[in-house]
Amino acid sequence: MKSKTIILAAAVGLVAGAPLAALAGPKEDLKAFREYYAKRFPGIPFDEFANGVYAIDAGMRAEWEQMEEFPPYELGLDIGKAEFYKKFKNGKSLADCFPNAEKGIKQNYPYWDPKRKEVITLELAINECRKANGEKPYKWKTGKLAAVSAYIGYLSRGKRINVIVPEDDPDALAWYERGKRFFYAKRGQLNFSCADCHVVNAGRRIRANLLSPALGHLTHFPVYRKKWEAKGTGPLAGFGTPHRRYAGCNKQVRAKPFKPQSVEYRSLEYFHTYMSNGLPINAPGMRM
Ligand code: HEC
Repeated sequence: MKSKTIILAAAVGLVAGAPLAALAGPKEDLKAFREYYAKRFPGIPFDEFANGVYAIDAGMRAEWEQMEEFPPYELGLDIGKAEFYKKFKNGKSLADCFPNAEKGIKQNYPYWDPKRKEVITLELAINECRKANGEKPYKWKTGKLAAVSAYIGYLSRGKRINVIVPEDDPDALAWYERGKRFFYAKRGQLNFSCADCHVVNAGRRIRANLLSPALGHLTHFPVYRKKWEAKGTGPLAGFGTPHRRYAGCNKQVRAKPFKPQSVEYRSLEYFHTYMSNGLPINAPGMRM
């Protein structure tokens, strides 16, 4: 019954005009996206969208605030910090690749690299730094990579997301469009798009889960999830990069997930983060 309700709501939502205009550019998309959520959740201040479901459910919020008094990600953040400053065999460290990290850099990721003609995510940059210095790259999605990335995000707390899509660069626009198409494309055996759950049905329940608005989704990544913590071992098991979450959401609708740092997920992250421009970074976030 429940899934039927959702599917019906999705169809109605699309007719009622979810914020997708095929010919609009990034700026128009962003404006429509924000306006949609402002209308959908009247009374929720813009910055609150950085808090996901905790912005829209008082009971969950109270529980979360209590957990944040002794944040479960603290130990992992310390490990991320140690990794960040740890010397490579050549005497350098990750900190040398990110000289402005202490001032806050996360808000500018992912960014468009006009020379390479591709989108660079923070996790990709971290592992490329290791390789360039003769170190083995970290494993993707969780563990040390997510912990270092969470630490860099933590140093950027309070900075506002400022992802740039250069509108005079057709290659950059093509990556952006690819990410946008991914976000709105139906996929998997259940035939759901990201937008079906996180735009059209944001604030509704699917089984036991309250669906978060996509606005603000990437303010707090890498995220620390109790569910992942319970499935793994050690202080880093709970951490996950955006691409870990993307893979999880793809699997929920029985679609085959893409590889971390694939063009598909990087372009999705580009569009998805751009849609949260102006919101404050609050990484790492704690989620259930
Ligand atoms: C069938 C519904 C469904 C679909 C489709 C879906 N998700 Fe999710 N997603 C969820 C649920 C449930 C959660 C956990 C509760 C929440 O925060 O929304 C979640 C959580 C997330 C989160 C974490 C939110 C936070 O605050 O930490 C992100 C990011 C996300 N989804 C992105 C996506 C993207 C991108 C897509 C498309 C590839 C997608 N989702 C497709 C159901 C869905």
